[in-house]
Amino acid sequence: MTLYALGELAPKVHPTAFVHPTAQLIGDVLVHAEASVWPGAVLRADFNRIEIGEGSSVQDNAVLHPRSPRPTTIGRDCVVGHLAHLEGVLVEDTVLIGSGAIVLEEACVRTGGSVAAGAVVLVGTEVRAGRRAQGVPAELVACDLHLEAIRAGAQKYRNLGRRYREQLTAITPSSHPAVSSISVSQEERSARMQSAGRTAQRRPVTLPLLAEKKRLGEPIVMVTAYDLPSAQAAEEAEVDLVLAGDTAAMTVLGYPSTVAVTLEEMLVLTKAARRGLRTPLLIGDLPFGSYERSHEHAITSAQRLVKEAGCDVVKFEGPSPERARAIIAAGIPVMGHLGLTPQTAGALGGGFKAQARSSTAARRLLEDAQELERAGCFAVVLEAVPAEVAALVSERLEIPTIGIGAGPDTDGQVLVLNDLLGIFEEFEPRFVKRYARLRREMVGAVSAFADEVRARRFPGEQHCYTMAPGEQEQFLASLENDG
Ligand code: KIV
Repeated sequence: MTLYALGELAPKVHPTAFVHPTAQLIGDVLVHAEASVWPGAVLRADFNRIEIGEGSSVQDNAVLHPRSPRPTTIGRDCVVGHLAHLEGVLVEDTVLIGSGAIVLEEACVRTGGSVAAGAVVLVGTEVRAGRRAQGVPAELVACDLHLEAIRAGAQKYRNLGRRYREQLTAITPSSHPAVSSISVSQEERSARMQSAGRTAQRRPVTLPLLAEKKRLGEPIVMVTAYDLPSAQAAEEAEVDLVLAGDTAAMTVLGYPSTVAVTLEEMLVLTKAARRGLRTPLLIGDLPFGSYERSHEHAITSAQRLVKEAGCDVVKFEGPSPERARAIIAAGIPVMGHLGLTPQTAGALGGGFKAQARSSTAARRLLEDAQELERAGCFAVVLEAVPAEVAALVSERLEIPTIGIGAGPDTDGQVLVLNDLLGIFEEFEPRFVKRYARLRREMVGAVSAFADEVRARRFPGEQHCYTMAPGEQEQFLASLENDG
């Protein structure tokens, strides 16, 4: 979706609402739960506020632009039809505004009233219950309206919005050759410029901000990234935390586990991620063998992640409060990691399975987490632990918990980026949700390229350079002269 802040005024969209990527929301716009805003709609709240009530929908290419002292307020369960134009008007609950209708400043449509398609409702008109505004200029005629039918219409768009939120996927030209590469790349370029503009306004995430999010109950979003494009995606998506995690060992370097990856390799990957980030906090991950030997060794490794790769903080696995204390005393904030700790799961741990499932183990996990908090960790990752245990630990700790396979009640959630994008499909732990299937897209794109090369359809004229005018003739003539 395209959101523009205007100074302090920024659109607010409820997480369960759907706003199509081509809709434009500018300034003081508020979109409530399960509302939907469809392709090409413009909600321009520069003079006054626009509010879309719960479950209401604003259809394709509708324009809402209040210019009078009255805001545009749409109540709940309303449908604003395609191409409708609404100025500063009040639309109460369960109202239908027909396609192409124009409703001018300070008009008001009460519950049980409606506006017919193509009507022009003049300034200040009140459409009461049992009346329909129709014609140009609109007359108010008696109308027996069934609120249930309007509610059912609104419900249809609540359901559709939910489906779009889950399933809408932009199609790339390379995987679908029928799509013109020129028009899509222009769209992509403008989407990028818009999101770059948004990101430019975002303040960098800090440790106090994370603590504040926990206090306010605002979920913290964390993903992994190990290269420039992934980090740029995380930046544009405005996540809070990026972990240059040692899962890179498996997901990008192809090792069988995280044990093999070295600090040197992690530094290369982490530096690449750093170059793509501005606002999320970057967490360096201490790989196996880089922190266990002694406090000094751990501090040296952590310092390299900070000094050479530009990390803001570091994370290491396991219940070692003393080690955490030492690194923190050296001036580097530490995130803990408890539950399933993949670096030691093979040899020492209980394997790659859920942890803390017995009451004794759950108690130990809680105590370990409290120890890490006392040692000064700013947050702790809980991996593969029962939801009820993670909920209790999160409640007992003052620092945020970030869950991965730890249920919905941790203070934040993390997923490995390559898992959530569906790039790494070698195995799929229960807690992974695929938000895309990029591996398939990648295979599709490379296959499309291969097919076009074999069929001599690539490169096309638009991908080729030409000689300067007249040069080809001269070139050929010069070859002929040679003999
Ligand atoms: O390295 C990593 O990606 C991690 C996450 C699973 C939290 O530690």
